[in-house]
Amino acid sequence: MTGKLLLATNNKDKVTEIKNLLARLDIQVLTLKDLNLEIDVVEDKDTLEGNALKKASEIWDAARIPCSADDTGLFVNALNGEPGVYSSRYAGENVSYADNRHKLLKNISDVPDVKRTARFKTVVCYYYGKDKYTFFEGCCEGRILKEERGEKGFGYDAVFLPDGYDKTFGELSLDEKNKISHRAKAFIKFRDYLASINS
Ligand code: IMP
Repeated sequence: MTGKLLLATNNKDKVTEIKNLLARLDIQVLTLKDLNLEIDVVEDKDTLEGNALKKASEIWDAARIPCSADDTGLFVNALNGEPGVYSSRYAGENVSYADNRHKLLKNISDVPDVKRTARFKTVVCYYYGKDKYTFFEGCCEGRILKEERGEKGFGYDAVFLPDGYDKTFGELSLDEKNKISHRAKAFIKFRDYLASINS
C-alpha cells in the first residue's frame, strides 16, 4: 500500500492506537494537526455509520485526501441498546465520563446479573473519493458490572467486563485491551482491506 491516509480525529490516544495498528502498511498516516486543519464536525446522526460517514466525508471535502473516521457506542441490552450512538453525551452535553457511567449504573440498578449483557461497537468509515466509501465494524461483547472497577482507560471502561475475562477494561493494560477491543477489531479489518487492495 502506498499513499496517504488522513485520520479524522483530534484525539491523541486514538491517533497513537491507530498508527500502531497500521504501522506495517507502506502508507503515510496524517492527522488533522499535520495539515493544520481545524474542523469540528457535529456528530448529529442517529447511527454510528451516519456519524462516521459524516466525519469522513466533511474532512475529505476539506483535504481531498483519503481519510478514515470512526464512531463508537456502548449498547446495553436491558436498556434497548442505550446509550448507543449517544454514549458520549448520555448524561447531557459537556458531561464527564464519570457522569455518563453513573447514569448508566443508575438506569440498570434493578437489572439482575444475567441480564446485564452489553456490546461495544466501533464503525470505521474509509472515504477515498467523492461519494466513494466503505465501512468496517468491530464489536466486543461483555457485561455491565454493578459498580466501577479499575482506574485505567476512559469512558465506560471501569464498568465493562469483557466476556472471558475477570478484569474490566478499566483494569486491563492498554495492550491487553487493544488485543480484544471493538476499535482494534474494526481497524484490523480496515488494515487488512488496505493491504489487500494493493497486494
Ligand atoms: P467515540 O465515538 O470514539 O468518540 O466514542 C463515543 C463515546 O463512547 C466516548 O465518549 C466514550 O464514552 C465511549 N467509548 C468509546 N470507546 C470506548 C472504549 O474503548 N471504552 C470505554 N468507553 C468508550
